[in-house]
Amino acid sequence: MNILAIESSCDETAAAVVKDGREILSNEVASQIDIHALYGGVVPEIASRAHTEAINGIVSRALENAKLSVKDIDAVAVTNRPGLIGALLVGVNFAKGLAYSRNLPLIPVHHIRGHIAANYAFYNGITNEEKLEPPFAALVMSGGHTSLIDVKDYTKFECIGATRDDAAGEAFDKVARLIGLEYPGGAKMDRLADFGNEKAIFFPEAHVKDSPFDFSFSGIKTAAINYIHTNEQKGAEICKEDLAASFTASICKAINSRLEMLFLSEELFPSKKLVLAGGVSANSHIRKSVSALCEKYGVKAYFPPLYLCGDNAVMIASQAYYEYANNTEDFYNYALNAHATCDVSK
Ligand code: KG4
Ligand code: ZN
Repeated sequence: MNILAIESSCDETAAAVVKDGREILSNEVASQIDIHALYGGVVPEIASRAHTEAINGIVSRALENAKLSVKDIDAVAVTNRPGLIGALLVGVNFAKGLAYSRNLPLIPVHHIRGHIAANYAFYNGITNEEKLEPPFAALVMSGGHTSLIDVKDYTKFECIGATRDDAAGEAFDKVARLIGLEYPGGAKMDRLADFGNEKAIFFPEAHVKDSPFDFSFSGIKTAAINYIHTNEQKGAEICKEDLAASFTASICKAINSRLEMLFLSEELFPSKKLVLAGGVSANSHIRKSVSALCEKYGVKAYFPPLYLCGDNAVMIASQAYYEYANNTEDFYNYALNAHATCDVSK
C-alpha cells in the first residue's frame, strides 16, 4: 500500500511516499527556518502562508522522487493534530482536495504518534535487520512536547508522564537565543556543549510532587536565564560552552531520572524497549546519556536517524499505515478538521 503523506503542523512543509508503513520511497521537506529565524521563533501567520506557497511543489516532488504518479497512490495521509491551527489547515485542505478528487482514503494522523512511527520506517526489517514493533515505551521530545508514552500497540497509547510547563526543545531554544544563537538554537547548543565543562554551573532539577514521571523544564530554563542576566549586569563574560554543557547535562539528568524509575518498574515497562522520537532526540549528549542508562539496565534503545528526528512526512505515512490497518476511524470523512491540541491517546 503506497501512502502519500503531508505534514504542515509547524515550520516544515513535508511530503513523502511510504510503502506499507516501512519502506521510504520519497521524503521531501521544505524548511521555513530561514524566514522565522529573522523573528527569533515561529510566526504562525507567516508559517501558514509559507506552507500555502510550498505545498504543491513539495507534493509533486515527493511523487516524482518516488517515481510514481498520483494513480499509484492508495491513500492520502495528513497531520491534523496537534499543531499551529493555520499551518495544519493548509495540509489538511490540500490532502482533502487530493483524496476527494481521486476517491482515496484520507487518513488523519496525530503528530506525536507520527514522531514515534518514524522509527518503524528506520527499524523496518527490510533495509535494517531490526524491526521495531510495539509494545515499547517512547520518550518524545520536540519543540512543543516532552512526554513519556506507553505504546501498547500501533494505535494504543497511554501517557506515563509529560512536561508540566516548557518542552525540552523550547527550553533549549530559549537559552540558545539569549546567548546569541540563531533560531532554532537546539542543534547549535548541542555543538557548543561539546566544548564546555558540564560541571561548571549548577542548575537545579525539578520534580513534580505526586507525579514522578512528569517533567518540568521551566525551572532549569529560568535558572539559566538568571545566570545570563546576572553576569550581564556585572559585566562579566559568560563561557557559552560551559553554559551549554551544564544546561544540557541538567536536561540529561532530568530525563534519566524518569527513565531510571521506568526501567525499575516491571509493571510499567515489561517490554524493556525504549524508543526516542522528536527533534530533540537528535541531541548527541542526550543520546549518549540515554544509551548508557539503557545499557546499565539491559534495555534495548532505538534512536531515529537524524533525518527522521525533526518534522517530516515519512513518519506520518508510517503511522497512517497502521491507523488504516487498525480501522481507527472513517477514512472517507472529507469534512476532516484540524485541532491545535490533542492528547496522544485520542
Ligand atoms: O520535532 P521537531 O522538529 O518539531 C516539533 O514538533 O516541535 O522539534 C524541533 C525542536 C526545536 O526546539 C529544536 O531546537 C530541537 O528540536 N532540536 C534540538 C536538536 N536538534 C533539534 N534540540 C537539542 N539538540 C539538538 N541536536
Ligand atoms: Zn514535530
